[in-house]
Amino acid sequence: MIFICFKNNETMEISEGGNTMSRTKSSLADSEWAIEAHGLMKHFGENRAVDGVDLNVRAGTIYGVLGPNGAGKTTTIRMLATLLRADAGTARIFGYDIVKEPHIVRQLIGVTGQYASVDESLSATENLIIFSRLLGLGRKEARNKAAELLEEFGLSEAAKRPLKNFSGGMRRRLDLAASLIAQPPLIFLDEPTTGLDPRTRNRMWDTIRRLVDTGSTVLLTTQYLQEVDELADRLAVIDHGRVVAEGTVDELKASVGTSSLHLNIRNHQETIVACETIEQILKVKTTVTQDIGKITAPMANVDAVTDLLIALRQKGIQLDEFSVQKPTLDEVFLTITGENVPQEIKGSEQVEGERV
Ligand SMILES: Nc1ncnc2c1ncn2[C@@H]1O[C@H](COP(=O)(O)OP(=O)(O)OP(=O)(O)O)[C@@H](O)[C@H]1O
Ligand SMILES: [Mg+2]
Repeated sequence: MIFICFKNNETMEISEGGNTMSRTKSSLADSEWAIEAHGLMKHFGENRAVDGVDLNVRAGTIYGVLGPNGAGKTTTIRMLATLLRADAGTARIFGYDIVKEPHIVRQLIGVTGQYASVDESLSATENLIIFSRLLGLGRKEARNKAAELLEEFGLSEAAKRPLKNFSGGMRRRLDLAASLIAQPPLIFLDEPTTGLDPRTRNRMWDTIRRLVDTGSTVLLTTQYLQEVDELADRLAVIDHGRVVAEGTVDELKASVGTSSLHLNIRNHQETIVACETIEQILKVKTTVTQDIGKITAPMANVDAVTDLLIALRQKGIQLDEFSVQKPTLDEVFLTITGENVPQEIKGSEQVEGERV
């Protein structure tokens, strides 16, 4: 029989056969890896949902998992969180095996994305108090914790309303709030900001950063490339159940191409001459955006910019705008997965347009 409890939310006691072992949250955070997964596999009938996923997530970091719909992100999380048994492969959470020691693993993690666990007929406050009490908090402590979390997630005004009257975004916030009562060392966030308005999304990002600042590790799946750009220390791109790219955001961007040139010329009648000049000097193909007359081109050698500017001036071509930029994550995603970026995965503009 194994017994685990958190004392003062700081020390974890694991008792087995009369021996008690204590580990503090900070000592867990000291272990180098929060997640070490090798060759994880899951079939649903003929469908290989997860096809040999390796993931190594350093403790104390934010790790992003990105991929098109149906890539296997949620299935991977469910296996790591011991909610689903893997067909093959191994994984350790802070060194504990997900198959041999699932009871310990469950004490170390929090998973969001399952608001079925919240009671519809009760208010937000009542739900959070119940979760707090289940986690061993005293009555007063539970009430304070509920109020504190509702305030943090901007739900104070709606606190007394039954959940059946909550919007999708409000439910999502309450779901995350509930999973933060115990602030577990490792938190799985499955698309935590999908469907949130921009203000709430920014608030959620602050909360996620604060969780990591106070010792937790976060694994986050998202449909928003910008979210990974903002938050993640490293990321994996999953496609058809496999990790097809892994690294820091900058590494992934660099792997796709170095830089791209963006150019707007004043007189659009000179577009063809401008393109010819660029192609001659940079030895690459240019692309012209029809609607705004913008010329873009990949740029392997940034030093060639000087030669290009001189050549354009010699031909009397005047510029409105000239920039050399790193590729965007949209371009990275497209190149790696070979798919068009779905509408919902696009980025900030898309998110700005959404309302809960
Ligand atoms: N319980 C299940 N039974 C059968 N098939 C499933 C089950 N869960 C997932 N799948 C299938 O496994 C594949 C991976 O699904 P998963 O939910 O892991 O994808 P995802 O990357 O999280 O996608 P999304 O971005 O849409 O959330 C899909 O083809 C899905 O239809
Ligand atoms: Mg999913």
